[in-house]
Amino acid sequence: QQYNVAILGATGLVGRQIIETLADRKFPVGSLFPLASSRSAGEDIKFQGQDIEVQDVELFDFSQAHIAIFSAGSEASLKYASIAADAGCIVIDNSSAFRNDFEIPLVVPEVNPHSLEDYRNRNIIANPNCSTIQLMLAVKPIYDAYGIDRINVCTYQAVSGAGKEAVDELAKQTANLMNARPMDNQVFPKQIAFNVIPQIDDFTENGYTKEEMKIVNETQKILGDSTVAVNPTAVRVPVFFGHSEAIHLETRMPYDLEHVKSLLREAPGVELIEDEHDYPTAVSDASGNDTVYVGRVRADISHPQGLNMWVVSDNTRKGAATNSVQIAEKLIEIYL
Ligand code: A2P
Repeated sequence: QQYNVAILGATGLVGRQIIETLADRKFPVGSLFPLASSRSAGEDIKFQGQDIEVQDVELFDFSQAHIAIFSAGSEASLKYASIAADAGCIVIDNSSAFRNDFEIPLVVPEVNPHSLEDYRNRNIIANPNCSTIQLMLAVKPIYDAYGIDRINVCTYQAVSGAGKEAVDELAKQTANLMNARPMDNQVFPKQIAFNVIPQIDDFTENGYTKEEMKIVNETQKILGDSTVAVNPTAVRVPVFFGHSEAIHLETRMPYDLEHVKSLLREAPGVELIEDEHDYPTAVSDASGNDTVYVGRVRADISHPQGLNMWVVSDNTRKGAATNSVQIAEKLIEIYL
């Protein structure tokens, strides 16, 4: 059986990656409908060697599609997801618009596939934040074995998480600064080239940013456990593709380090770097593939049940496109 698939945000960084991933993973696509705003309607997108014209989402009839994957930001999701869902199309949404809605499942297929069933409530499934996805793949096996009291996490996030314009801003600033030309910033709140910025998204009332609160709320929702305390600091770094995370967690029961390593070795979607003097990095390992790499797994010398690890993954792939295509794969495998 084949499925007609619409991609909203098809001209964007993640939208293009979704289309590539559908082809790479041989998703059974009948017709592909690339959608964007009127700005880029009429452009061509390549899919399996064919040019397909981008359509204006405003004029699109969603009853033509079985599945729609949205990656055009929260505003577009809030506007079009219910229109698509009401037309009988199942929406997999990459924005943060629906992630905290208790009726809408928030799914990482390797971690909480059972939640997918709730797609029936609204015909909408939310794809988690990129930082949450890689965190979940690394901590879920440990959570299952020992429980987790608390997670401290510092993220080092690539500019591609903020879209195509953000990638262009890092490239332009870098070139300008290296040629002693003046630079300006439009996408990021401060200079991102040769700098790190401890702010992603807006600030909230408690002093954390929205990006940080996404990691807190999404982690608890995916684990189905609001007793897991999460304390994130989300930082933007001048890397194009691939998020890194320094994770410090405290288990509920005493853990055995060798057992933790064996769990990570077996964990789906995860590759453990075994050499204690080696480690994965965003650019040399994660960028361009779908694996979540875990390294520097070691006991915390400051806490008896503390555990440290370093986790990297391509934010546009497993952090966004791949996870949403995997959701679509599970959906057709189990329910359609
Ligand atoms: P467009 O090319 O028409 O602007 P990125 O995250 O790389 O910046 O890409 C964002 C994607 O989301 C683009 O494909 C963009 O389309 C699309 N998009 C953004 N806002 C809207 C909207 N209001 N309606 C439809 N598509 C949108």
